[in-house]
Amino acid sequence: MIRVFSGIQPSGIPTIGNYLGAIRNWVTLQEGHECLFCVVDLHAITVFQAPETLRAHTREMAAAVLACGIDPARSVLFVQSQVSAHARLAWIFNCVARLGWLNRMTQFKDKAGRDREAASSGLFVYPNLMAADIAAYHARRVPVGDDQRQHLELANDIAEKFNHDYGVDFFPRIEPVILGAAARVMSLRDGTKKMSKSDPSDQSRISLTDGADAIALKIRRAKTDPAPVPESEAGLADRPEARNLVGIYAALAGSSVEQVLAEHGGRGWGPFKEALAERMVATLAPIAAETRRWLGDPGALDALLHEGAIRARAIADPIVAEAERIVGFLEHAAPRAGFGPGRAGNP
Ligand code: TYM
Repeated sequence: MIRVFSGIQPSGIPTIGNYLGAIRNWVTLQEGHECLFCVVDLHAITVFQAPETLRAHTREMAAAVLACGIDPARSVLFVQSQVSAHARLAWIFNCVARLGWLNRMTQFKDKAGRDREAASSGLFVYPNLMAADIAAYHARRVPVGDDQRQHLELANDIAEKFNHDYGVDFFPRIEPVILGAAARVMSLRDGTKKMSKSDPSDQSRISLTDGADAIALKIRRAKTDPAPVPESEAGLADRPEARNLVGIYAALAGSSVEQVLAEHGGRGWGPFKEALAERMVATLAPIAAETRRWLGDPGALDALLHEGAIRARAIADPIVAEAERIVGFLEHAAPRAGFGPGRAGNP
């Protein structure tokens, strides 16, 4: 079975962008693939997170992913920091990737903003860790939103350079899976900006835990232009806000942009927004309820994540140990009798 890997940062409550752009496709890929899904807390701390907030967001993210339909009996769901193979391989990749490659990453430029000197060094090497996440499992398919395309191209460059430098054919090429009318959901306040769980404005996004009233209000207030809903896709040109709302509608309805425009074209935004909010509430209300249910039982959630980490380690540890051997590191010592955990006096 083809192995699939994807990750999500616990940097806030997941948005409808995360859902339509990524998580929904994760759910579909569970059929017929071997899937690993990871809450990437190592990535989250590339921007400072208050420790208690990070812990809460990590559990919330895991709960939301389960609520969206990730089935722990079929897929491995785990937290990145609980599988040390990620950090070990990321270090090797820090030494393979070139500064020039990282300098071209648009997401670093966006996130670092004007004060590049003040960004953490982790934020700069973020894509190397992402490449390691995938390579540590020899995963072949990576379902993501459109914003991750450049990072996945870099991941292939890194894998290829590793293979070339060490004269091996060890890390496979990966194939991005970027699907649907909502692979790039934009902010409700500004159609040129990506919708993000870490945007300071709550009005810019729909969170998966928003209630019906909040959703209706945010959609009603979403920015549009004065022209009505167009009748064909050509009418969306240079209208980023209109394109965004129509794309979200199409993704929620499971139809194409053309079909949505055939149904709603020529009408005002008022009725369109009402229909959109209704569809959104129908999709999100069960997810919010199921997220709350998981969060009500943090013991069960933590146990499920520990189990996921054990399953993830069983795949990643031998692959990363082999990468370390290829690089020329000495083998890890096998645990000796009388040492290691479980014996008084030993760590
Ligand atoms: P993150 O946490 O920003 O987002 C998680 C997933 O959601 C997608 N996404 C969107 N899709 C459509 N519209 C949007 N507005 C939108 N915002 C986010 C993202 O493309 C992503 O698929 N670097 C990654 C996490 C990561 C990862 C990995 C992904 C770490 N290691 C390995 C794949 C493989 C990130 O920050 O995602």
